[in-house]
Amino acid sequence: MSDAIDYLLQARPEAMQPYFSFLKQSGKKLDPKTRALISVISKVHGRTERGFRQYLTRALRVGCSADEVLDALLAAFPMIGLSGLIWATDILLDMDLPEFKPEALGSEPQWHTVGRIDEIDDGVSRLACDNRELFIYRNGDVIKVYDSRCPHQVTNIPQLALSDCTLTCPKHEWQFDISTGECIAKGNRPLTEFEHKIEDGRLLAYW
Ligand code: FES
Repeated sequence: MSDAIDYLLQARPEAMQPYFSFLKQSGKKLDPKTRALISVISKVHGRTERGFRQYLTRALRVGCSADEVLDALLAAFPMIGLSGLIWATDILLDMDLPEFKPEALGSEPQWHTVGRIDEIDDGVSRLACDNRELFIYRNGDVIKVYDSRCPHQVTNIPQLALSDCTLTCPKHEWQFDISTGECIAKGNRPLTEFEHKIEDGRLLAYW
Protein backbone atom coordinates (compact mmCIF):
# COMPACT_ATOMS: atom_id res chain seq x y z
CA MET A 1 0.00 0.00 0.00
CA SER A 2 1.21 3.51 -0.70
CA ASP A 3 2.14 6.02 1.99
CA ALA A 4 -0.77 8.19 0.80
CA ILE A 5 -3.30 5.41 1.39
CA ASP A 6 -1.76 4.63 4.77
CA TYR A 7 -2.10 8.30 5.70
CA LEU A 8 -5.73 8.56 4.51
CA LEU A 9 -6.65 5.36 6.39
CA GLN A 10 -5.33 6.93 9.58
CA ALA A 11 -6.72 10.39 8.95
CA ARG A 12 -10.17 9.42 7.57
CA PRO A 13 -10.86 5.75 8.48
CA GLU A 14 -14.65 6.23 8.27
CA ALA A 15 -14.35 7.31 4.63
CA MET A 16 -11.62 4.92 3.57
CA GLN A 17 -12.71 1.66 5.20
CA PRO A 18 -15.96 1.31 3.16
CA TYR A 19 -13.84 1.71 0.05
CA PHE A 20 -11.62 -1.19 1.09
CA SER A 21 -14.66 -3.31 2.04
CA PHE A 22 -16.05 -2.63 -1.42
CA LEU A 23 -12.78 -3.75 -3.04
CA LYS A 24 -12.77 -6.91 -0.94
CA GLN A 25 -16.35 -7.81 -1.83
CA SER A 26 -16.23 -6.92 -5.50
CA GLY A 27 -15.39 -9.75 -7.87
CA LYS A 28 -16.03 -12.39 -5.20
CA LYS A 29 -17.73 -14.68 -7.70
CA LEU A 30 -14.83 -14.54 -10.13
CA ASP A 31 -12.12 -17.18 -10.12
CA PRO A 32 -8.73 -15.97 -8.81
CA LYS A 33 -7.08 -15.88 -12.26
CA THR A 34 -9.83 -13.71 -13.77
CA ARG A 35 -9.73 -11.37 -10.78
CA ALA A 36 -5.97 -11.08 -11.03
CA LEU A 37 -6.06 -10.37 -14.78
CA ILE A 38 -8.72 -7.66 -14.32
CA SER A 39 -6.51 -6.08 -11.63
CA VAL A 40 -3.52 -6.16 -13.98
CA ILE A 41 -5.52 -4.39 -16.70
CA SER A 42 -6.85 -1.80 -14.24
CA LYS A 43 -3.26 -0.94 -13.26
CA VAL A 44 -2.31 -0.51 -16.92
CA HIS A 45 -5.35 1.69 -17.46
CA GLY A 46 -4.33 3.83 -14.46
CA ARG A 47 -0.62 3.69 -15.44
CA THR A 48 0.31 2.63 -11.90
CA GLU A 49 3.69 0.97 -12.32
CA ARG A 50 4.01 -0.28 -8.75
CA GLY A 51 0.48 -1.70 -8.87
CA PHE A 52 1.12 -3.30 -12.25
CA ARG A 53 4.24 -5.06 -10.98
CA GLN A 54 2.42 -6.15 -7.83
CA TYR A 55 -0.69 -7.49 -9.58
CA LEU A 56 1.29 -9.11 -12.37
CA THR A 57 3.22 -11.02 -9.70
CA ARG A 58 -0.09 -11.99 -8.09
CA ALA A 59 -1.51 -13.14 -11.44
CA LEU A 60 1.47 -15.45 -12.00
CA ARG A 61 1.22 -16.70 -8.42
CA VAL A 62 -2.43 -17.71 -8.77
CA GLY A 63 -1.60 -19.67 -11.92
CA CYS A 64 -1.97 -17.30 -14.89
CA SER A 65 0.46 -18.14 -17.68
CA ALA A 66 2.49 -15.50 -19.52
CA ASP A 67 0.33 -16.20 -22.59
CA GLU A 68 -2.83 -15.46 -20.61
CA VAL A 69 -1.39 -12.17 -19.34
CA LEU A 70 -0.42 -11.17 -22.89
CA ASP A 71 -3.87 -12.13 -24.21
CA ALA A 72 -5.53 -10.09 -21.45
CA LEU A 73 -3.43 -7.06 -22.42
CA LEU A 74 -4.29 -7.49 -26.08
CA ALA A 75 -7.99 -8.05 -25.34
CA ALA A 76 -8.00 -4.81 -23.32
CA PHE A 77 -6.63 -2.88 -26.28
CA PRO A 78 -9.87 -0.88 -26.80
CA MET A 79 -9.46 0.45 -23.24
CA ILE A 80 -5.68 0.75 -22.79
CA GLY A 81 -4.77 1.59 -26.40
CA LEU A 82 -1.40 1.12 -28.03
CA SER A 83 0.28 3.44 -25.52
CA GLY A 84 -0.96 1.29 -22.60
CA LEU A 85 0.13 -1.89 -24.33
CA ILE A 86 3.61 -0.48 -24.95
CA TRP A 87 3.81 0.94 -21.40
CA ALA A 88 2.99 -2.48 -19.91
CA THR A 89 5.31 -4.33 -22.30
CA ASP A 90 8.22 -2.03 -21.43
CA ILE A 91 7.73 -2.88 -17.76
CA LEU A 92 7.46 -6.60 -18.58
CA LEU A 93 10.76 -6.41 -20.47
CA ASP A 94 12.35 -4.54 -17.58
CA MET A 95 11.18 -7.26 -15.16
CA ASP A 96 12.92 -9.81 -17.41
CA LEU A 97 10.66 -12.67 -16.34
CA PRO A 98 11.71 -16.09 -17.69
CA GLU A 99 8.13 -17.10 -18.54
CA PHE A 100 7.75 -14.09 -20.88
CA LYS A 101 10.81 -14.87 -23.01
CA PRO A 102 9.60 -15.53 -26.58
CA GLU A 103 11.06 -19.05 -26.56
CA ALA A 104 9.20 -19.89 -23.32
CA LEU A 105 5.76 -18.76 -24.48
CA GLY A 106 3.34 -21.58 -25.14
CA SER A 107 5.43 -24.19 -23.35
CA GLU A 108 3.81 -26.52 -20.83
CA PRO A 109 5.43 -27.15 -17.42
CA GLN A 110 8.09 -29.85 -17.72
CA TRP A 111 11.10 -31.40 -16.00
CA HIS A 112 14.42 -29.58 -16.41
CA THR A 113 17.88 -31.01 -15.72
CA VAL A 114 19.54 -28.84 -13.09
CA GLY A 115 22.83 -30.75 -12.90
CA ARG A 116 24.56 -33.89 -11.70
CA ILE A 117 23.64 -34.57 -8.10
CA ASP A 118 27.24 -35.52 -7.19
CA GLU A 119 28.36 -32.05 -8.28
CA ILE A 120 25.97 -30.25 -5.94
CA ASP A 121 27.67 -29.72 -2.59
CA ASP A 122 26.03 -29.35 0.80
CA GLY A 123 25.07 -25.73 1.47
CA VAL A 124 23.52 -23.29 -0.98
CA SER A 125 24.32 -23.04 -4.69
CA ARG A 126 22.95 -20.58 -7.19
CA LEU A 127 22.62 -22.11 -10.66
CA ALA A 128 21.23 -21.08 -14.02
CA CYS A 129 18.99 -23.57 -15.79
CA ASP A 130 16.91 -23.13 -18.95
CA ASN A 131 16.34 -19.36 -18.67
CA ARG A 132 15.83 -19.47 -14.92
CA GLU A 133 18.09 -18.94 -11.96
CA LEU A 134 17.74 -21.18 -8.95
CA PHE A 135 18.87 -21.45 -5.36
CA ILE A 136 19.61 -25.06 -4.44
CA TYR A 137 19.77 -25.90 -0.76
CA ARG A 138 21.35 -29.24 0.09
CA ASN A 139 21.91 -30.93 3.41
CA GLY A 140 22.75 -34.55 2.60
CA ASP A 141 19.60 -36.13 1.25
CA VAL A 142 17.51 -33.03 1.95
CA ILE A 143 17.31 -30.94 -1.20
CA LYS A 144 15.24 -27.84 -1.95
CA VAL A 145 15.06 -26.07 -5.30
CA TYR A 146 13.86 -22.46 -5.21
CA ASP A 147 13.19 -19.85 -7.85
CA SER A 148 15.68 -16.99 -7.40
CA ARG A 149 12.77 -14.57 -8.01
CA CYS A 150 11.42 -12.93 -4.88
CA PRO A 151 7.79 -13.86 -4.15
CA HIS A 152 7.06 -10.20 -3.44
CA GLN A 153 7.75 -8.43 -6.74
CA VAL A 154 9.90 -10.97 -8.59
CA THR A 155 13.28 -9.29 -8.02
CA ASN A 156 16.01 -11.68 -9.09
CA ILE A 157 17.78 -12.21 -5.76
CA PRO A 158 21.58 -12.42 -6.15
CA GLN A 159 23.99 -14.82 -4.45
CA LEU A 160 25.35 -11.89 -2.47
CA ALA A 161 22.00 -11.64 -0.67
CA LEU A 162 22.80 -14.86 1.19
CA SER A 163 24.26 -14.80 4.67
CA ASP A 164 24.46 -18.22 6.33
CA CYS A 165 20.93 -19.56 5.89
CA THR A 166 19.25 -16.16 5.51
CA LEU A 167 18.44 -14.76 2.10
CA THR A 168 17.55 -11.04 2.04
CA CYS A 169 15.91 -9.60 -1.06
CA PRO A 170 17.69 -6.33 -1.89
CA LYS A 171 14.51 -4.56 -3.08
CA HIS A 172 12.33 -4.35 0.05
CA GLU A 173 14.34 -6.58 2.37
CA TRP A 174 12.00 -9.51 2.80
CA GLN A 175 14.06 -12.24 4.49
CA PHE A 176 13.85 -15.98 3.95
CA ASP A 177 15.24 -19.06 5.69
CA ILE A 178 16.75 -20.89 2.73
CA SER A 179 16.58 -24.25 4.53
CA THR A 180 12.76 -24.09 4.61
CA GLY A 181 11.88 -21.31 2.17
CA GLU A 182 9.82 -19.58 4.87
CA CYS A 183 9.69 -15.80 4.99
CA ILE A 184 11.11 -14.80 8.37
CA ALA A 185 11.02 -10.98 8.24
CA LYS A 186 9.15 -8.10 6.59
CA GLY A 187 7.05 -10.17 4.17
CA ASN A 188 4.38 -12.83 4.29
CA ARG A 189 5.08 -15.30 1.50
CA PRO A 190 7.67 -18.09 1.18
CA LEU A 191 10.16 -18.55 -1.64
CA THR A 192 8.74 -20.36 -4.66
CA GLU A 193 9.88 -23.95 -4.38
CA PHE A 194 9.95 -26.22 -7.42
CA GLU A 195 9.16 -29.92 -7.25
CA HIS A 196 12.31 -31.96 -7.83
CA LYS A 197 13.49 -35.55 -8.27
CA ILE A 198 16.74 -37.41 -8.80
CA GLU A 199 16.99 -39.60 -11.85
CA ASP A 200 20.08 -41.34 -13.30
CA GLY A 201 22.33 -39.26 -11.05
CA ARG A 202 20.78 -35.99 -12.22
CA LEU A 203 18.77 -33.44 -10.24
CA LEU A 204 15.60 -32.50 -12.12
CA ALA A 205 13.21 -29.68 -11.28
CA TYR A 206 9.67 -29.07 -12.53
CA TRP A 207 8.24 -25.76 -13.66
S1 FES B 1 10.79 -7.59 -4.44
FE1 FES B 1 10.09 -6.68 -2.63
S2 FES B 1 11.20 -7.77 -1.10
FE2 FES B 1 11.77 -8.72 -2.91
